[in-house]
Amino acid sequence: MNLKSLVTGGAGFIGSHVVDQLIANGHEVIILDDLSGGVIDNINPAAIFCKGSITDVTLVNELFKEYNFDYVYHLAAYAAEGLSHFIRKFNYENNLIGSINLINVAVNFNVKCFVFTSSIAVYGQNELPYHEGQFPNPEDPYGIAKFAVEMDLKNAKSMFGLNSIIFRPHNVFGARQNIGDKYRNVVGIFMNQLLKNQPLSVFGDGNQSRAFTAIDDVAPFIANAVNIDAAYNKVFNIGSDNPITIIELIAALNKITGINAQPNFLEAREEVEHAYANHNQFNDQFEPGSVTPFSKALSEMWEWVQKNGAKESREFDNIEILKELPSAWRK
Ligand SMILES: NC(=O)c1ccc[n+]([C@@H]2O[C@H](COP(=O)([O-])OP(=O)(O)OC[C@H]3O[C@@H](n4cnc5c(N)ncnc54)[C@H](O)[C@@H]3O)[C@@H](O)[C@H]2O)c1
Repeated sequence: MNLKSLVTGGAGFIGSHVVDQLIANGHEVIILDDLSGGVIDNINPAAIFCKGSITDVTLVNELFKEYNFDYVYHLAAYAAEGLSHFIRKFNYENNLIGSINLINVAVNFNVKCFVFTSSIAVYGQNELPYHEGQFPNPEDPYGIAKFAVEMDLKNAKSMFGLNSIIFRPHNVFGARQNIGDKYRNVVGIFMNQLLKNQPLSVFGDGNQSRAFTAIDDVAPFIANAVNIDAAYNKVFNIGSDNPITIIELIAALNKITGINAQPNFLEAREEVEHAYANHNQFNDQFEPGSVTPFSKALSEMWEWVQKNGAKESREFDNIEILKELPSAWRK
């Protein structure tokens, strides 16, 4: 009998690539996604799709009753870290309470392993490079919600024996990423602006650095993790070792696209200036081998973006706090 996996957020960017790998591995995959950020086109036709929210306790219970999942891959979230200061209630309801709903049912239905995509946002102001031995110090509601879920999983293990594997990815990019969300995914935002011949919006001076990571160096490892016993009940940073600044990202994009786009400097926003992580623990356990070259991954995404066309950036409808909201995010 096939192993059954629930993938929340499976219509989204990372989730849809995790689904592809699980299907290639022979799992029966059920996707739960409310399509708030993902799209139908991302969904692997071999998966069963249920449109709905992780915040809907009745629906989540019904799904577990119907399918009796072996594994849960929980990727559904609204991952707009910078915006999370201004949508605190939504952030905690969606990203924290939604996650707890799933953990409750995973305990009740004896799931074998709960795989969770946390984020390096949990580290906040901490010594660089971030490593798993550090005590997290999240600086925004998004990171706080992720860390709270991590702690709840730890508690669910000691109290109820629920196994989990926690990944802390960072700055993942590639095909199927939502390029129409102006609050997140800087590579996608820039590519959307390149398609529209617009200057590239940079908060502050562009000297912030991030280690941008190709999707192929992330999704298959998340999918395959449940087969690695030694990974159970551990936390892994996952992603590139090479931070670059936003200005360097613009230069790389100009090079691969042949466009000479200029930065449009906006007022700085509240964010960690440099964020990159050590991946020794991941490398030891997962033996990833070769890493996708940055320019190759960028070119592949640009090819996909050109085929799919520019997207209209949507406004987040229900901003809860307007104080300190960056002017670029005001209507
Ligand atoms: N992309 C990154 O660089 C990155 C970095 C660190 C962590 N993560 C985490 O990885 C996961 C996937 O991120 P992504 O970049 O693929 O984002 P994404 O927006 O493409 O995917 C998230 C999916 O979750 C769905 N979703 C959101 N709220 C939901 C809800 N209440 N119920 C059901 N579905 C819901 C969205 O429709 C979307 O399809 C998230 O948990 C995110 O926090 C991403």
